[in-house]
Amino acid sequence: MVILGIETSCDETAAAVVSTTADASRLWEIRSNVIASQADIHREWGGVVPEIASRQHVRDICGVVERAMADAGVAWNGIDALAVTQGPGLVGSLLVGVSFAKAVAASLEKPVVAVHHLAGHIESIFLEHGNIQLPAAVLVVSGGHTSLYFVPEPGVYSLVGRTRDDAAGEAYDKVAKLLGLGYPGGPPVDKLARQGDDQAIDLPRTRLTHADRNPPPADLATSLFPPGLKHLAEFSFSGLKTAVVRYLQERGVAVSTGLAVPSDAGPLSPKDVADICASFQRVVVEALVDRTFAAAAWLGARSIGIAGGVSANSRLRQDAVTRGEHEGLPVFVPSIKLSTDNAAMIAAAGLRKLQRGEASALDFNAEASLAIK
Ligand code: KG4
Ligand code: ZN
Repeated sequence: MVILGIETSCDETAAAVVSTTADASRLWEIRSNVIASQADIHREWGGVVPEIASRQHVRDICGVVERAMADAGVAWNGIDALAVTQGPGLVGSLLVGVSFAKAVAASLEKPVVAVHHLAGHIESIFLEHGNIQLPAAVLVVSGGHTSLYFVPEPGVYSLVGRTRDDAAGEAYDKVAKLLGLGYPGGPPVDKLARQGDDQAIDLPRTRLTHADRNPPPADLATSLFPPGLKHLAEFSFSGLKTAVVRYLQERGVAVSTGLAVPSDAGPLSPKDVADICASFQRVVVEALVDRTFAAAAWLGARSIGIAGGVSANSRLRQDAVTRGEHEGLPVFVPSIKLSTDNAAMIAAAGLRKLQRGEASALDFNAEASLAIK
């Protein structure tokens, strides 16, 4: 079976052709994977501007799909099904992909599968590594999400924890903006962190104590944890961002948190900036790795997966794999190209749903917020 995947949930217009294989250990093969990033356009605004994003998707979608078909050497009559990101994301952006996919499906008289964006990120691990040991604990860590899933069998995802406030990628983007490093913030902070001293600044570790806990949100499958430990897999990053703001203010930096104006790092030397990046990154990565491993132990997971844009982070990849080797728990991370938003992962998640007999009727719509199914 050959499937065309389409992803337009944020600021990447992406299309990919993926086919099933006869190999039982590696179910899918990527035939093409095309991404038109809008990062250069949004950079001058300091972040994604939704209206600009949806207009740019309209401009790019036809060319991106044609390129994905050409790269795969597939004609329209060679497409058996379509998969498209239904949500969550920016609704105007999602609408472009959803409308395009439905129109193609209707004209080709082929099935279309509505895919949850985070199911796509989870399936990027299976697309890269084939069948990993299940059950797995899978951390999806991106610009919009920091969520931990329990995957007991292929295609089944139970949300067991997520961030109480900012996503980890969002914290990277905000800290980068404070330091005048541009958008998206993850790559430059990651790069500078490698040159800095990660103990230079004493930033607070995230702690969700009894005192500041609200009951966990109702949609979490917390019954998988023992009663006193329902918060085991929850994250919080806004306090860390505030601590960086305070530190910068103490150092005399004129901090601007306005949308359009990146701050000038002012009195900070390049070494100071590298030290801030390294210290910030240490705290983020420790929180992600510690909580994921703790949850995996309680869940009885036989492997750990880490996906989403922040899984491209060099320290997160390294620390998680090293810890996994130490604890005898295999850790699977997709390649960089499959970590950040792409359509091959959406195509894979679509194939997974089709294999489970879950094609969508043509009346589904784009959904800015959407629970995983
Ligand atoms: O998954 P993704 O491409 O889009 C969303 O679904 O959000 O993730 C984008 C996020 C951005 O916040 C970006 O700064 C972050 O991933 N990111 C990184 C790195 N590369 C991208 N964060 C830390 N280190 C990186 N190397
Ligand atoms: Zn994403």
